[in-house]
Amino acid sequence: MIAVIGGGIIGLSIARSLRARGAEVTVYDPEPDGTGGAWHVAAGMLAPGRESAFEHPRLESLLEASLALWPEFAAGLGDVGYDTTGTLGVALTADDHVEAAREWRHQKLQPLTGSQVRDREPALSPRIRAGVHAPHEVQADPRRVVAALRRALAGRIVARRITDLGEVAADTVVVAAGCGTAALTGLPIRPVKGQVLRLRGEPGLLRHVIDGSADGRHVYLVPRADGEIVVGATQEERGDSAATAGGVHDLLRAALDLVPGLAEHTLTEITVGHRPGTPDNGPLLGRLDARTVVAAGHHRNGILLAPITARLVADLVLTGSDDPFLDDFAPGRNGCA
Ligand code: GLY
Repeated sequence: MIAVIGGGIIGLSIARSLRARGAEVTVYDPEPDGTGGAWHVAAGMLAPGRESAFEHPRLESLLEASLALWPEFAAGLGDVGYDTTGTLGVALTADDHVEAAREWRHQKLQPLTGSQVRDREPALSPRIRAGVHAPHEVQADPRRVVAALRRALAGRIVARRITDLGEVAADTVVVAAGCGTAALTGLPIRPVKGQVLRLRGEPGLLRHVIDGSADGRHVYLVPRADGEIVVGATQEERGDSAATAGGVHDLLRAALDLVPGLAEHTLTEITVGHRPGTPDNGPLLGRLDARTVVAAGHHRNGILLAPITARLVADLVLTGSDDPFLDDFAPGRNGCA
């Protein structure tokens, strides 16, 4: 019997992989039908280049390997809003362009002029100075993904808050409890607050994910087919759950600077979540002891990394696999013990 602690996107994806390979699995989560996880706030950008820069040296490879698994992962879950239109990176001012160009060069993306990006996405502001097209950086809807995973695991998810791993009757315990993993294991995982907005209007204003800077304010806009646009996100080294005037103002100001037509949209949600950060902001994946495996600390990339985390952890638990990624992201690595 295998217990998975945490019913967020990581825990559920692992449990589904274990089940698919014939294992007996129970997932423990205090609110198995709730909306308390980081997945509920997340926009669902599947964007290795955008979210990996200059952190753990192997993070980009891990993100790319997981992106390659997404088509099969999504297909196995039904309609989860997996959309391959791609991403436009955009810079509003000359200063934004200098800053963004560093990342775009690192990602080897072909520069576009302002009018070239507007040809692809006419709702963008005529003030936009430059951009890039990243066709491989796509999106899925995390809320639909979790709903599909919950359906796939019906009857296997128990409503219980685990405060001590000794309480759980299981041969193997996989701790995938996001920020809650710190209290259960002592591992250095910290909450990194993110405020995210949801706007709603006529479908079709945007087709691409927009990832941009406007006067030094970074924002991403993730359009769904039904007219919702997710606007994210602040990144704050704190653990409170307050939506702030400054946070909402910065996101809306940058969003409207890049896409003026959003002014007519309705603001339907303000949510606050906590990314589980680690000292090098790479996830912690692997064995803590003979009984305990950890899969946590996915920071900005929990949605993108769900498929590879599920595969690596299922292999480790069921076959003892020593995939090189498990060395790179071992929980005991430098600074992460
Ligand atoms: N992956 C987007 C974010 O963490 O804001």
